[in-house]
Amino acid sequence: MSAVRIGPYTLRNGLILAPMAGVTDQPFRQLCKRLGAGLVVSEMVTSDMSLWNTRKSRLRMIHEGDPEPRSVQIAGGDAQMLADAARANVELGAQIIDINMGCPAKKVCNKAAGSALLKDEDLVTEILHAVVAAVDVPVTLKIRTGWDRANKNGLTVAKIAEQAGITALAVHGRTRADLYTGEAEYDTIAAIKRAVSIPVFANGDIDSPEKARYVLDATGVDGLLIGRAAQGRPWIFREIEHFLLTGEKLPAPELIEVERILLEHLAALHAFYGDVMGVRIARKHVGWYLATLPGAREFRAHFNRLDGPQIQCAYVREFFAERDKSLTGDGKGVAA
Ligand SMILES: Cc1cc2nc3c(=O)[nH]c(=O)nc-3n(C[C@H](O)[C@H](O)[C@H](O)COP(=O)(O)O)c2cc1C
Repeated sequence: MSAVRIGPYTLRNGLILAPMAGVTDQPFRQLCKRLGAGLVVSEMVTSDMSLWNTRKSRLRMIHEGDPEPRSVQIAGGDAQMLADAARANVELGAQIIDINMGCPAKKVCNKAAGSALLKDEDLVTEILHAVVAAVDVPVTLKIRTGWDRANKNGLTVAKIAEQAGITALAVHGRTRADLYTGEAEYDTIAAIKRAVSIPVFANGDIDSPEKARYVLDATGVDGLLIGRAAQGRPWIFREIEHFLLTGEKLPAPELIEVERILLEHLAALHAFYGDVMGVRIARKHVGWYLATLPGAREFRAHFNRLDGPQIQCAYVREFFAERDKSLTGDGKGVAA
């Protein structure tokens, strides 16, 4: 994987944290960037500016303090609204605008946004031209391979994107109709990569260094988007980076490091969201971190009833202290 550029930005590597609503908030983005991601993308922000006054939307639009370059994803189905939203986010500090035409979530698709747009190529063209014209930062696009298997128009949309001045394209190897079922396929991504000259990033089911190598080789793409595999495992970026550079696998992080990262993540969540919301959001992250460790199920059942930041951190410390005691060896390498 050679150096990846998005407009004026050269990324440290082509490993990108995929946008995930409810997951890739600022604390998680900062963590993934520090642990090796070349780029992190915000949760999607609706293009309907009348909804921006909720606490949730306001928190999504804090770009200050984000690792650079700051990529902010917008979602919507109206060209003018998306153009306005792009401009407003650039004013708030976005350095890259990413347009979501890849998400099948109902909330987005009911308003004919996200991947539902792929069905209407004229509208796609209108949106892309409007957003590119509205801002002077790079505009990237995230798509699926098509609307459904009978209408796999990802390649056509990719060409529309290139024509419209989109700087880079991420492709999730499923159609909108596939939702998250079945295995991501990479043949269509390879065909798209061959058909356009802008950087293309592959996405879908990349969950290990070996899989990353495989997808890069199978598609010839410039980089990879990693989503679910980073949940509770933000160090996956450095693991993949190391493997791609050296062909060697890094050992799994020691428990003591997992504990340190998790406590740091919790503290950042509590600080960013405040105690009430921070405690609630911390629960799902903690569940992901500990999912593969023995005793995780019992721990979670109890942890999810705790309702203060300090007690959450104390209980996590206790969990790791117990694991440490129960290990007869040196406490290494249990976090897969
Ligand atoms: C909880 C969750 C939230 C997501 N939210 C978004 C989103 O806001 N915008 C988007 O383009 N894709 C979104 N996605 C899709 C991911 O970016 C990615 O395309 C998908 O998860 C496949 O990649 P993966 O197999 O590496 O997870 C979301 C996925 C998940 C699991």
